[in-house]
Amino acid sequence: MEKIFHESAAYHITGEAIYLDDIPQANVLIGHLVGSKVAKGKIISTNIEQALKVKGIHAILSHKDILGINNLGPIVHDEEALAVSEVRFVGQAIFLIAAETKQQAIDAERLIEIVIEEQKPVFTLFEAMSADTKVQPTRTMKTGEAETFLPLAEHKFSGNIEIGGQEHWYLETQASLCIPGEGNEMKIISSTQNPTEVQMIVAENLGVSIHEVEVETRRLGGGFGGKETNAHHVATWAAILAKHCKQPVKIKLTRDEDQKITGKRHPYFIEYQVGFTQQGIIQAIEMDIHSNAGSARDLSMSILERSMLHAENAYFVENMTIRATAWKTNLPSNTAFRGFGAPQSMAAMENIIDEIARFLSVDAAEIRYKNFYGIEKRNKTPYGQLVINNRLFSIWDELIQTSDYYKRRKEIQQFNAVNTYLKKGLAITPVKFGISFTTSFLNQAGALVNIYTDGTILVNHGGVEMGQGLFTKMQQIAALELGVSLDKIKVNATNTSKVPNTSPTAASSGSDLNGAAVKEAILKLKERIQAVVANYFSEKNQGKQKSEIKDIIFRNNLVFDWRNPEREISFAEAASIARIKQVSLSATGFYKTPDINYNRETETGNAFHYFAFGMAVSEVSIDILTGECVIERSDILHDVGESINPNIDIGQIEGAFVQGLGWVTSEEMKYSAKGELLNYSPDTYKIPGIRNIPKDFRVSLLQNAPNFNAIRRSKAVGEPPFMLALSVWFAIKDALLATSAEKKQINLKIPATNEAILLTLNALNK
Ligand code: MTE
Ligand code: HPA
Ligand code: MOS
Repeated sequence: MEKIFHESAAYHITGEAIYLDDIPQANVLIGHLVGSKVAKGKIISTNIEQALKVKGIHAILSHKDILGINNLGPIVHDEEALAVSEVRFVGQAIFLIAAETKQQAIDAERLIEIVIEEQKPVFTLFEAMSADTKVQPTRTMKTGEAETFLPLAEHKFSGNIEIGGQEHWYLETQASLCIPGEGNEMKIISSTQNPTEVQMIVAENLGVSIHEVEVETRRLGGGFGGKETNAHHVATWAAILAKHCKQPVKIKLTRDEDQKITGKRHPYFIEYQVGFTQQGIIQAIEMDIHSNAGSARDLSMSILERSMLHAENAYFVENMTIRATAWKTNLPSNTAFRGFGAPQSMAAMENIIDEIARFLSVDAAEIRYKNFYGIEKRNKTPYGQLVINNRLFSIWDELIQTSDYYKRRKEIQQFNAVNTYLKKGLAITPVKFGISFTTSFLNQAGALVNIYTDGTILVNHGGVEMGQGLFTKMQQIAALELGVSLDKIKVNATNTSKVPNTSPTAASSGSDLNGAAVKEAILKLKERIQAVVANYFSEKNQGKQKSEIKDIIFRNNLVFDWRNPEREISFAEAASIARIKQVSLSATGFYKTPDINYNRETETGNAFHYFAFGMAVSEVSIDILTGECVIERSDILHDVGESINPNIDIGQIEGAFVQGLGWVTSEEMKYSAKGELLNYSPDTYKIPGIRNIPKDFRVSLLQNAPNFNAIRRSKAVGEPPFMLALSVWFAIKDALLATSAEKKQINLKIPATNEAILLTLNALNK
């Protein structure tokens, strides 16, 4: 098959791709935030008199200047846009400045006096637990009788895992440009995954109706979940300033600002107890999941829900109790990040499997295989949904072979037996990821497709292009349905005036949802054109057999009657005729995912439309003296159904895996005792670089695995491969344990940084 490249690939490479900051805007002011320097406290007094005198300052606004609700909370209103009387994290916005230049704003900021009476903050989960700062009551999901069967199990142990946060590190920082119009109108260009929510929250904060606000998004320089609910912060602040100044205002956070004040992946602490047989079959698990929500609720409860729904990963556990609690702390409110809570609970489950294997002195691969969900039996999740179309065994069989797993296992044992300062480790880990928003109503999408008389097509849909290739897939879907070449299709910037009331582009479901909506719109248009063309052919061939509507076919930029193939016109001619015949060439499409019915009261039901599967085998080597870790090789076999675009899907798998690598090996947040993020720039916060990816990196797509539940038999791909990086973490653990003859278990945290590796080695070899 011919390779189809990302629709913007050439623009990305030449630098022609227009991001928000590249849009020329006359008369624009720069918006800037003045944030709290204290993590928790009461605002006693403020003074902006001197700051207002700085040259180029157009406005300095406080909560008193906000005409609407003064709140950014997406689900509950618990995040003030500008602090009123108390602050809850370092960097929380108190004032907004509009200036002609960023430097003027910074100069003014220095002259603003803010007196805050400090209170005792909490930062870690352990501090939060002692201060009892639950976001909501603990949620419990339960299948079988873990509390009965745990004490009866042949073997049992308890354990825990500590998992750190992660900064999104999208290349384009949070940004918004707001242009006031007549009356209450506000046009917003936003780097957001969620244009509709930006529209709603800006309207609420300006105190205007939703139809006054238009949000447009052409592309993001990455979102990764960080722009699902956090993009509306800068949009709201810029809109407040723009409305006040009656002038366009742009806020684009600097890298340092972005890293300091935006929410991140949630740090977790997970405790568990497991009971299992001498053969390694799991009998019962109790798991307690704790997440660090930061200062507000944001999406924390949805994220925690996805943790619960992935706590058993790819394994059948007959008796399982999962308790989950999110805790508030005085950090920026943590938010969505690729995987959305699943990576953390999956890590805990995989750690349970790994520890069982160490306990029984067998290869963890064996324990994994034995506990996989069955094909027809042993296939019920803890929430009652059945795992159907289970691909675990086909993936396992192929990957174990192609990666030479058992041969390399032996080679590594031999290597470790003769090497003292370099140790190798190997691990295979699976992923089973549920596709659908767990917030059921979000599983919907809309589209608006226009055909023009030269035969070109403009596709509008509710999804956002953030680099993942959504627009390319929409272009391909439209081209195939209409039988035209790709160059006839343009996908328009996402705009709330074209397609309203949309869901965020998230949960990996962008292509599934928007693709189906685009297809629906196109089917309506095709029916109209078929009628017009059948009529046209029949009139032209009077006295001969009539052309039937159902026989009109679209292919190769042509429209023809397949029973009378000489009756053929170009797609463009067909469009022109439709216009002359006064037939509309514009149609909307809508799609909602069927058959999802999760019940939060009982924690049971079908949470997902289908599951995506994948596995990875990773081999690492560790320098015992420095703690340095090299990923020698990673083999991935991933299930994307029938890929709409293999090129793009492989890119998603590689990208997700490498981002996961950062999470499990090198990315770590360090805070001062006062709750200030210390490593807020790339020199101290270490995302994976080109030298950190696997030296030998082999990614394949599972073949012959159509998914009849989604557009063109494809499967969602955006998030699932992220968690394949756990194979690297378990390979590290494997290498570390190879250094000690007598110790079988170690408590390694995520991320396994060089420092953590060295500390673990010391503990192991004391
Ligand atoms: N790929 C790129 N290049 N940039 C991104 O920001 N976000 C990921 C994933 N892949 C992201 C990405 C996340 S978190 C999600 S949910 C999906 O893309 C969203 O897009 P989709 O639903 O179209 O797959
Ligand atoms: N994934 C991503 N974003 C979401 C979800 C989800 O499952 N639910 C609500 N927002
Ligand atoms: Mo992705 S975390 O669902 O934006």
